[in-house]
Amino acid sequence: MAYSNKSDPFRIAITGATGSIASHLMPDIAKGMLNKDDRPIELKLYVRNIDDQLQAQKMAGLAKELRDHGAITHIRATDNLEELFEDIDCAFLLGSIPRKPDQPRSSVLEPNAGIFTQQGKAINDFAKRDAKILVVGNPANTNALIVNSYTPDLEPNSVTSLMYLDTTRMKAKAGCKLNIPPNMIENAFAMGNHSESLVPNLDNASYRGREILQDLPGDWYTKNFTPSIQKRGQEIGSLRKKTSSSSAAWAALSHMNDWIHGTQGRIISMGVPSNGSYGIDEGVIFGLPVSVDYNGRIEIIEGMKINPAHECFMNESYKELLEERSRIEHLLNHCYELDTSADYDYDNDMPAPV
Ligand code: LMR
Repeated sequence: MAYSNKSDPFRIAITGATGSIASHLMPDIAKGMLNKDDRPIELKLYVRNIDDQLQAQKMAGLAKELRDHGAITHIRATDNLEELFEDIDCAFLLGSIPRKPDQPRSSVLEPNAGIFTQQGKAINDFAKRDAKILVVGNPANTNALIVNSYTPDLEPNSVTSLMYLDTTRMKAKAGCKLNIPPNMIENAFAMGNHSESLVPNLDNASYRGREILQDLPGDWYTKNFTPSIQKRGQEIGSLRKKTSSSSAAWAALSHMNDWIHGTQGRIISMGVPSNGSYGIDEGVIFGLPVSVDYNGRIEIIEGMKINPAHECFMNESYKELLEERSRIEHLLNHCYELDTSADYDYDNDMPAPV
């Protein structure tokens, strides 16, 4: 099976292509935001009901519009996982059964496990060995664990989950408090599970060479900032009656962009298989501070400071991820026979079918 090659087109697969995160993500890809080494971009979209005439017509219109942005040479929509993942360089796994506004993320764990099992197997069989697979569909860390367990033939750290959204939320809130542009903040990252037990970390963050905590008032960080970041997704979901879409798309694009091009020493946050650092069992997909080199190799940054007031959230996140893993343990390690009869709705905005 092939590795990424500069003379090949750069192939990107997207699941959940009719959902609202994809609708925000695709135009930025079509403008060339992920281009590297001047390789032509090919986009492959997973559309479950592609035989439906209206759906096919809409996709044809969308494909024309995306091509008009100028960076994509070829777009294909398919309902076949082999075609979707064949020879891809990277994938955004957006499609999942979404939670309802008042549901916890973990409630969609079992319903989504079948989707990610199927996709993991197909990725292992058909994707490039160094493909970059980003899991966005929730519960993202555990869905990534499933995909990771079915992709043993890919390079290590080929499957990551999205924590970037939590980091952009952190920078936005801290930037607002300090009255500085959020992007000026360095070394802010999110740890743990992408859930209400998330551990936002400003203990190592700085701006203009100053430690950020010096300029934040009293216990604002642990008492106000942390809970608001932990609950941000829930808050947006309750108000909009649907999950975050444009911010999630921007975070997914930024995550993949940093993974493809490298972070030049910047620290970012990704859900990656733990290497045992920070007391987290090897293999658990945990949000950790990482940097990425120009060749896309991810390095976990060890020894960063963690606020003593946040140790409880580190433990809570870890416990939550172990519990999630125990609920889908029987699906891991290739011991699961596919149930292809299940009819999943991949549109991020649609309620799950009963
Ligand atoms: C978010 O954080 O906004 C998303 O992960 C949506 C969700 O399900 O909470």
